[in-house]
Amino acid sequence: MSIYRGRFSARTIVVTGAGSGIGRAVAMRLLEEGGRVVGVDIDAGRLSSLEQELRAVATPPPGDFIPVAGSAGDETTIGRVRAEVGAHADGLANVAGIMDGFEPAAEIQNETWDHVLEVNVSSLMRLTRALLPEMLRHGGGSIVNVSSEAAQRGSAAGTPYTTSKFAVNGFTLSTAFFYSPHGIRCNAVAPGPVLTNIDARFHSEHARARLSPLLATNVPPPAQPEEVAAAICWLLSDDASNVSGAILPVDGGWAAV
Ligand SMILES: NC(=O)c1ccc[n+]([C@@H]2O[C@H](COP(=O)([O-])OP(=O)(O)OC[C@H]3O[C@@H](n4cnc5c(N)ncnc54)[C@H](O)[C@@H]3O)[C@@H](O)[C@H]2O)c1
Repeated sequence: MSIYRGRFSARTIVVTGAGSGIGRAVAMRLLEEGGRVVGVDIDAGRLSSLEQELRAVATPPPGDFIPVAGSAGDETTIGRVRAEVGAHADGLANVAGIMDGFEPAAEIQNETWDHVLEVNVSSLMRLTRALLPEMLRHGGGSIVNVSSEAAQRGSAAGTPYTTSKFAVNGFTLSTAFFYSPHGIRCNAVAPGPVLTNIDARFHSEHARARLSPLLATNVPPPAQPEEVAAAICWLLSDDASNVSGAILPVDGGWAAV
């Protein structure tokens, strides 16, 4: 038995992007540790697959999984999340995010910019804003945002994604500043490359030529989603009770290069 078993017993945690990659690994880890997980994903099929998988295993994890299909920042989705959360959310993991085709400034498509900023920043803000009042009433909570190594430097993604993840860092620090005195911790993890379904294709030959040599030499091997999930779950848990306002690189040492 894991020494961590039960860390999230009787706790409700909202996880966005729960259908794939890092968000799915976070949901699984929380379920294994007894949590009640409200899992949000825009891809209903991925949530159904996860539910089926949970039903099919011989020894299901002790936690409860409640799927909410929809876009994380959509008001209808947020209403359903709040209804499922009930009296309060103990935690929120804002994991959902999308890439930008590595578009550099001169080649940014309006739809790429708008979509990346909408999913990576505005949706995260709206869901956090919606859950904070309950956390404040309850007197505590832990929020973990997924930033990126792309917000530690200018050379890990395109300009929309880099901009969005620097905004995630700012949102994280400001939220930690305003609410830590009220028992609400807010932190971010900054992953390096992780083996997930994220679309990391280049839209730009300029970006490919500029970034490829750097990515080939400076970047540690990709991590498994579970390795990032472990750090997120630590920040969600009471084990990190004195940690707020941290931007934690989870990148195999890339930030040190
Ligand atoms: N994979 C990497 O190398 C890497 C590196 C650094 C940071 N990240 C960040 O990790 C987070 C998770 O990405 P991942 O790599 O697991 O990708 P992924 O594509 O495997 O999973 C992301 C999930 O988010 C969902 N999603 C997308 N838009 C959504 C929306 N509007 N509302 C709800 N769900 C939505 C997708 O359907 C998908 O299931 C993202 O914020 C990403 O920027 C990933």
